[in-house]
Amino acid sequence: MSIAEILETMEYGPAPESDKEARDWIRSLGAETKLFIGGAWRKAKSGASFETTAPATGEVLAKIAHGGAADVDAAVKAAAKAGPAWKALSGHQRARYLYALARLIQRHSRLFAVVETLDNGKPIRESRDIDIPLVARHFYHHAGWAQLMDSELADREPIGVCGQIIPWNFPLLMLAWKVAPAIALGNTVVLKPAEYTSLTALLFAEMCQKAGLPDGVVNIVTGDGATGEAIVRHPEIDKIAFTGSTEVGRIIREATAGSGKSLTLELGGKSPFIVFEDADLDAAVEGVVDAIWFNQGQVCCAGSRLLVQEGIHDRFVAKLLARMEKLRVGNPLDKAIDMGAIVHPVQLQRIRELVDLGIEEGATLHQPAARLPEKGCFYPPTLLTGAHPASTVARVEIFGPVAVATTFRTPAEAVELANNTEYGLAASVWSETLSLALDIAPKLKCGVVWVNGTNMFDAGVGFGGYKESGFGREGGREGLAAYSRPKRMAKAVPLRPEPQPALTGDAIGSAAVDRTAKLYIGGKQARPDGGYSRPVLTPAGAVVGEVGEGNRKDIRNAVEAARKAAGWSGASEHNRAQILYYIAENLDARASEFAERLSAMTGKRKQDSAREVAASVSRLFSYGAWADKFEGAVHRPPIRGVALAMNEPVGILGIACPESPSLLGFVSTFAPAIATGNRVVVIPSARYALAATDFYQVFETSDLPDGVVNIVTGDRDALAAELAKHEEVDGVWYFGPAEAAGRVEKASAGNLKQVWAETVERDWFNPAAGEGREFLARATQVKNIWIPYGE
Ligand code: NAI
Repeated sequence: MSIAEILETMEYGPAPESDKEARDWIRSLGAETKLFIGGAWRKAKSGASFETTAPATGEVLAKIAHGGAADVDAAVKAAAKAGPAWKALSGHQRARYLYALARLIQRHSRLFAVVETLDNGKPIRESRDIDIPLVARHFYHHAGWAQLMDSELADREPIGVCGQIIPWNFPLLMLAWKVAPAIALGNTVVLKPAEYTSLTALLFAEMCQKAGLPDGVVNIVTGDGATGEAIVRHPEIDKIAFTGSTEVGRIIREATAGSGKSLTLELGGKSPFIVFEDADLDAAVEGVVDAIWFNQGQVCCAGSRLLVQEGIHDRFVAKLLARMEKLRVGNPLDKAIDMGAIVHPVQLQRIRELVDLGIEEGATLHQPAARLPEKGCFYPPTLLTGAHPASTVARVEIFGPVAVATTFRTPAEAVELANNTEYGLAASVWSETLSLALDIAPKLKCGVVWVNGTNMFDAGVGFGGYKESGFGREGGREGLAAYSRPKRMAKAVPLRPEPQPALTGDAIGSAAVDRTAKLYIGGKQARPDGGYSRPVLTPAGAVVGEVGEGNRKDIRNAVEAARKAAGWSGASEHNRAQILYYIAENLDARASEFAERLSAMTGKRKQDSAREVAASVSRLFSYGAWADKFEGAVHRPPIRGVALAMNEPVGILGIACPESPSLLGFVSTFAPAIATGNRVVVIPSARYALAATDFYQVFETSDLPDGVVNIVTGDRDALAAELAKHEEVDGVWYFGPAEAAGRVEKASAGNLKQVWAETVERDWFNPAAGEGREFLARATQVKNIWIPYGE
């Protein structure tokens, strides 16, 4: 090509990165890789292995050890052994190790980037400029949290041994997201990389050795889904953190149910990319390039659904098609390449099948004219237009470089379309009108919103989903909750079922003539669907009163009432605070009546019951106080801009209250939930249910909007499982014995709602344990809204 031609076409030739050092390093691994357990390299006891290939060429790069159950067991034992000494170090001592890891990653960044690109197929430009710098940033940031843990998280401690299972799309970055916070806070880990991309995890293990990290703090066991399953099921693992498909996330939710393991899931997405007619269209076109063609679209938060306002659709698509023609697909080691290879032929096949289906379903296919490399696992940048929002390609995660475009007319319609998905990971909003963008962002049901940007990440900004995109956050202060727990948990006593006294048939006081307390649904007292009731007894078995026996239908009605009370989530914090104070005032006015009732049910002295009522009044005041003070944060990630971390209500929360203290337990759970804007369906203590049914009149005189609090009495554990199964319930709190908690967790797998199951005793009377941030954090989920500055 002549210089004149080059200047005319602006084509430039290949600029390949050398892979010599990377290949030398891979050769150093030997004929078969080993597992990193207890600070040493060990052959897999299973004796099995599998090949890892370079997706760009299909060549075999290495034989990877396939860790079996015995290997996982050895790794877990090593992690458990290392735990106490690692946890006992000062935050500063741990910070020094994380800092050393950050420095080592930076010093070896080129090697990491090339190995990553060889093994995964992603462009070297991305592994070099995005993945690896973010990995180092993650270790730096969390070195800081290790340093500050003693002061900033003084009431929290590490969870223990963490099993971490990660995917192949950002192999080292996902490792960093998991390992850095875990070890910073004093946990030890057993990590399993994805089977397609094990290599950088092994290189990271070498860095752990170089940093002198104590043996067993980080263990790397390579393998496949079966290895992952062995980690998930291992009894000595205290926490599972998983990133991958929603399908496997659901399996893990079921497998860990009832095990007492804590769990965070970062799953799939089908994130909307919304372009309003007043957007800077050229910037938005570049946004699409980053949203769906970055990493070949193999990104959980990829902007895969383009929602374009009708008036600009054709103009926008024309610009996009022109831009697509310029994208270079090819050798990922070439620094001038925009898109590399798809990770594996299996994934390529899946993408092809889904796109074919999209065409069958009536969508129009757009792909650039340029030919793909003949060898290797490549797929061109692809746009499907005219797909119906209900079609498969518009709904399922394709996990490839395929954007599906549809139109909308009004902002309200954009929000409706955007939220019309079971996922809720991320969204991009493009508009030059800030007031419009900032009106839309809170309405989107997802964990991250980028305004006039996309796919921005930072260690200091939390990341994670709503709905079936999972629960828990990674990064930021909120991410630390996933790797720490309140210190009091260490000495906690397991909750046991409350013994029920035998019915003697006697009735006390006015109970003989008392009418049965109904359920409380949508602000009205409602008869239970089944028409049955159950007695509430004194310790001697005499009847104090009767409450309704709620069933599945009653739960459905209660959830429906909560759904209709959506306005509460948008009410001002000041307004919510006022109502909580009002509830407190009305409870206070009836204090002695409540105390008497409590004493009748529990047999406790009147002054003890009076103390419980007074504590309940105080608790309501606390949440009235908190309502307008549980604020978010303004993060300053290293871009020109800010990320607003907003605490949003979970939505509809189902709450199974502790059996006792019945009144204080009821108040301590519904109050933080409604203070933060949730609507609740509460199942009160079964044994002492009258404490809650007496509350109906308190609510009725307190201006609480109908449907914000709904109460269904009956068999608490059975009703909690019904709530956990319900698709429109967004989260469940369960305070009770472990066995029933397990059933609740298992039932929650359907829509992957978040579950807070607490199976140990808690001192509800002590404000340090019975109220405050722990409850508020459980009642909310953090949405991070990124707002870059400037042009
Ligand atoms: P996957 O969810 O099967 O794999 C992720 C990790 O989980 C891997 O390390 C794998 O070995 C492990 N794993 C698999 N089965 C397991 C089990 N039963 N118990 C414990 N661990 C298990 O994802 P896969 O098959 O690689 O990709 C399939 C689809 O999943 C993709 O097309 C994409 O739609 C989605 N995906 C989403 C990701 C995300 O970040 N949201 C990442 C990877 C895949």
